[in-house]
Amino acid sequence: MPGPLLATLKGENLSRRPIWLMRQAGRYLPEYRALRAEKGGFLPLVYDSEAAAEITLQPLRRFGFDGAILFSDILIVPYAMGQDLAFLAGEGPHLSPKLVDHSLQALQGVPDRLSPIYETVRLVRASLKEEVTMLGFAGSPWTVATYMVNGEGSRDQHETRAYAYRDPEAFQAIIDAIIEVTVDYLDGQIKAGAEAVQLFDSWAGSLAPREYERWVIAPNATIAARIQAMHPTVPVIGFPKGSGEKLAAYARETGVNAVGVDETVDPLWAARELPAGMPVQGNLDPLLLLSGGAELEKRATEVLDAFADRPHVFNLGHGIGQTTPLAHVEQLLQVVRNWHR
Ligand code: CP3
Repeated sequence: MPGPLLATLKGENLSRRPIWLMRQAGRYLPEYRALRAEKGGFLPLVYDSEAAAEITLQPLRRFGFDGAILFSDILIVPYAMGQDLAFLAGEGPHLSPKLVDHSLQALQGVPDRLSPIYETVRLVRASLKEEVTMLGFAGSPWTVATYMVNGEGSRDQHETRAYAYRDPEAFQAIIDAIIEVTVDYLDGQIKAGAEAVQLFDSWAGSLAPREYERWVIAPNATIAARIQAMHPTVPVIGFPKGSGEKLAAYARETGVNAVGVDETVDPLWAARELPAGMPVQGNLDPLLLLSGGAELEKRATEVLDAFADRPHVFNLGHGIGQTTPLAHVEQLLQVVRNWHR
C-alpha cells in the first residue's frame, strides 16, 4: 500500500492532502543547527551518511510530514563531475574552476562522490514508516549549469545566459554532460530506496521563451524519459520555478508525472491550465508561513480549495525560510489536516 504522498503523485485524489515542505530539513530547526555545528559545516554533514540520514528524519519526528526528502544538495552533481565545491559561511556555494573560462573536457569526473548519498537514502528508507514516502532529487541541467559556468549564484544568471547565446554548442555539451550524471545519480537514489524524485529547476524563470524550450523543457524531458524507462513506477516531479505562463508548456511537453508550482502562480490558473488529472504540488508563499496568523490559515485554505479537483500535494512555492517559527509549521499542519471538501 503506497502512502498518501506516493498515491497522490501516481494520480489519486484522496480525501486527505499529503504535505511536505521544500527545505524541510535545514536551518529553521534547532536540532539541525546543533548537528551542523558539531560536524563543522554543510558538506561534512552531507558526506556523513548517518548524520545526513538523521537530518532527513528530524522534520519527520517533529511534524510527521508525508514525505522525507533526502538531505543533500543539487551541487553534488558538479562535485562528482570534478569541480571543487565549497560552502562559505554567509556567501553560499562556490564551484571551481568555473566553466565560463575553463573547458568541460578538462574536468576529471569523480563518480565515488555520489556513493555516500545512496547510503543516506538506504539508511533513511530503513527507518521510515512504510506510509512515509522517500523522495530523492537532483537539480535540473539549466540550474546546475548556472552554478558550473559562473562558479557561484548570481542575480539573474547573466554569465550563463550570455555564454549560452555566445557558444550554444559548448553550452549544449555542458547540459548533456549534466544529463548523463543526473540520470545515473537519480537511478542510484531509486535503487537505494527513493520512491519518487524531484527535479529542481530553481532558475528556469530567467530564460527567454526559445531558450526555455531548449535549456529547460528539452533536458528535463530527456531525464524524465530515461528515468521512467528504467523505473516505470517511480513518479518524477518537475519544479521549474519562476516559469509563469510557461509552466503549462513545461507540464505538457516534458513528460514529468507531476509538476511543482511556485507562489507567483495563481493556483486557480494552475488548476485550470495544467493538464487534467496531472498531480500538482505547491504553492503557499513561504513568507506567509513565516508571518503566520489568520492570513496563513486563509491563504493555505485557498490553495487547498483551488486544487480540490485534482491530485494535489500541499507544499510551499519554494523553500522554507530559516527564521520561520516552528509554531507556524504546526499551525499549517492543522489547517491542511483538518481541510475537507
Ligand atoms: O529540501 C530539503 O530539505 C533537502 C535538501 C536540499 C538542500 N538543498 C539542502 C541545503 C535541497 C533539495 C537543496 C536544493 C538546492 N540547493 C537548490 C534548489 C532548490 C532551491 O532552493 O532553489 C539550490 C539552488 C541549491 C544550491 C544551494 N545550496 C545554495 C544556493 C545554498 C546556499 C544558500 C543558503 O541558504 O546558504 C545551498 C546550501 C544548502 N543546501 C543548505 C541546505 C540545508 C544550507 C546549508 C547550511 O548552511 O546549513
